[in-house]
Amino acid sequence: MKDDNTSIAELLAHPKSAQIGAYLEAKLEDKCYRHVLSVRDMALELAVKHGADLQKTNLAAMLHDCARWMDTRQLFEAVADYQIQLDEFERINASLLHALIGAELALDIFSVGDEEILSAVRSHTKGSKSMTLVDKVLFVADFSEPNRTYPEAGAVRKIANKNLTQAVFEVARFKISNLLDKRKVIHPDTLAVYNDALREIENSRVANEA
Ligand SMILES: [Fe+2]
Ligand SMILES: [Fe+2]
Repeated sequence: MKDDNTSIAELLAHPKSAQIGAYLEAKLEDKCYRHVLSVRDMALELAVKHGADLQKTNLAAMLHDCARWMDTRQLFEAVADYQIQLDEFERINASLLHALIGAELALDIFSVGDEEILSAVRSHTKGSKSMTLVDKVLFVADFSEPNRTYPEAGAVRKIANKNLTQAVFEVARFKISNLLDKRKVIHPDTLAVYNDALREIENSRVANEA
């Protein structure tokens, strides 16, 4: 455990991490900045537990909401500037845009070009098909970090310590159920996350019973 703690301390002190932190502190509202730091702490804990790359997890978590300071007009301007091709769901749901633009800012401002990091940033809200370990860690930590006030966050945190796939499933299930209640469209990627996680859980149950 000492090795993990040592390497986490080194990650936090890394110049790139400090540069991103200074940008976030200047650009984001206090509550959002604290959320990012809390996501980063929880994501690193999960990365240690579940064997995800610590460097990639740290940068993905630090960067995931780096476009959160933009209002809807600025988000759509950035979509045009970066020539992002939106799908039919993203075009009508501005809450999905900060994740896509965050990945562009990561490359543009901070020269972070690692596709695994950028994919985790892009998919942190809606999930994605065939999620990597870093994608899953960020998806779960963003939903359930300790500053989140909804009761499902605490339940997901407990599950995530033991079983990351089960936690991913619960996050997707909650998001889908919440969107249904609000009569909002559901991005097919979120449905894919739900179905993939459920299939994985069923397969491991069958394997354990065999
Ligand atoms: Fe976000
Ligand atoms: Fe977030």
